[in-house]
Amino acid sequence: DDRVPYLGTYQAGVTTPRQPVGLAVAFNVLATGPADLQRLFRVLTARIAFLTQGGTPPVIDAKFPPPDSGLMGPVVAPDNLTITVAVGPSLFDGRFGLQSKKPLRLKEMPQFKNDALNGDQCHGDLLLQICSNTADSNIHALRDIVKNTPDLLMVRWKQEGFVPPPRALGERQASPRNLLGFKDGTANPAHDDLEEMKRVVWVQPDSGEPEWAVNGTYAVVRIIRNFVERWDRTPLQEQESIIGRDKPTGAPLGMKAEFDLPVYSNDPDGKRTPLDSHIRLANPRTPGSEKNLILRRPFNYSNGVTKSGQLDMGLLFICFQADLDAGFATVQDRLNGEPLEEYIKPVGGGYFFVLPGIADKNAFIGQSLL
Ligand code: HEM
Repeated sequence: DDRVPYLGTYQAGVTTPRQPVGLAVAFNVLATGPADLQRLFRVLTARIAFLTQGGTPPVIDAKFPPPDSGLMGPVVAPDNLTITVAVGPSLFDGRFGLQSKKPLRLKEMPQFKNDALNGDQCHGDLLLQICSNTADSNIHALRDIVKNTPDLLMVRWKQEGFVPPPRALGERQASPRNLLGFKDGTANPAHDDLEEMKRVVWVQPDSGEPEWAVNGTYAVVRIIRNFVERWDRTPLQEQESIIGRDKPTGAPLGMKAEFDLPVYSNDPDGKRTPLDSHIRLANPRTPGSEKNLILRRPFNYSNGVTKSGQLDMGLLFICFQADLDAGFATVQDRLNGEPLEEYIKPVGGGYFFVLPGIADKNAFIGQSLL
């Protein structure tokens, strides 16, 4: 079955196995007050229900524009589509009377030391993460939503991405590679372990967050350009020291297999795994650092060519965590100044809060917030 349920305690698209293609699209909300905002969330819910579960759009008089773009033919197939709705800090600015309801740690994504943020690719009132098996399904879904919300939403920026489809079934799958040629996702927490996901990803009742936010999660989106021409001229040994893993196998340096656990206690000076390697900084595996775990769910992207003739490609980095400060912000602070920075440049993205799930058919997304 290629239909992902859209109802539940949590929204789909966070702990759902990563689909082959994904896009992040941010909007300015044009709705002018609380009633209008509720209408927006109701329309979104109805579109999500239809698009993710599939079906036949109504046929109407040919004198009118067709209700569906027709991109997917007369029947819309579910195609493993998920549409995940998140809100940005600017939604709580007073237009909708939501000032007192802002999630504790939600704020505008700051500029980190290595960032060169482009205003045209940053922030937004609302974020949709749209993922499925094919780029067409994602675009079909996006156009459907745009068509149905002309007076409610305006597209602000969008970034599409892809990952190689899963290669093997059965045993633990090898992680797909990012555009630096390294396996990416190896050391992720287990998305199919509910208890782990409650610790790492889903906001819990005792967290100090507003009650409405329980079962939501913070989403961080970062559009990170990779300087692939420079990378491709860098010695293998240096690439591996920068990441902290063997390139062919994905194993931690000095170990055999991708999923062997890195051990740093017997390597205090970083002779085997440099102290400033990406994985050692991101997760030093010291007592307490398990509080900084994040669930990464990134996609590779390839956009075209820069004015100076360089390939414009990189990582559409997306991660989820129950505590933005303990999660992404702490990890990024540790990574600031890492040797990998010579090869990457974050140019866009934002901080968002993924709303709790849609409880049942009569409920709508964002209901607990409004
Ligand atoms: C691990 C690449 C950005 C956090 C890794 C790994 C690679 C990698 C190859 C090892 C395999 C794995 O465990 O997934 C990259 C590239 C990036 C990037 C190319 C930018 C273009 C980031 C950012 C963060 C981050 C922005 C968070 C602030 C992590 C974490 C791990 C990891 C937490 C797992 C470390 C562990 O538990 O051992 N990354 N990464 N990465 N990365 Fe990144």
